[in-house]
Amino acid sequence: MTIQFELNGRLVNASVNPGTTLLEYLRQEEYHSVKHGCDHGECGACTVLINDVSINACLTLVHAVAGKKVETLECFSTHEHLHPLQEKFLQNGAAQCGFCTPGMILSLEALDRENSDITESNIRDALNGNLCRCTGYVKPVEAGLDALKSSPVKGDQS
Ligand code: FES
Ligand code: FES
Repeated sequence: MTIQFELNGRLVNASVNPGTTLLEYLRQEEYHSVKHGCDHGECGACTVLINDVSINACLTLVHAVAGKKVETLECFSTHEHLHPLQEKFLQNGAAQCGFCTPGMILSLEALDRENSDITESNIRDALNGNLCRCTGYVKPVEAGLDALKSSPVKGDQS
């Protein structure tokens, strides 16, 4: 079957077997920011944005994204310009092994797009589905606050 959807800003026609998960498809297509962790919706390492909402790709079939907008971390930066969340993760030392980091950044980006208030509590809620074995969450939360509070729109709310 062929499924058409938008992936990182371009239209793709994915030829997949029924039952292929979005995680399987993205890994096969070498979107390596999308990590293969638990495969059961428990770790958040496979987080992607679907129509601006953070979703576990391991629990999403490719056919379910037909006509939708899918984004992975690959579309957020170039080698020259990092996304502000990536910059703040770097500056705050918020990534250690880095396995959870793409998922965390996408969860925080989804929070930003929701237009919710950027508070520590909302940041922690946004990261609730992203398991991190290394950081204890303190630095990722600080990085999220730094990046999202300093964005032009959010900065006006504080
Ligand atoms: S690999 Fe999808 S939530 Fe763990
Ligand atoms: S930085 Fe290692 S799992 Fe989060």
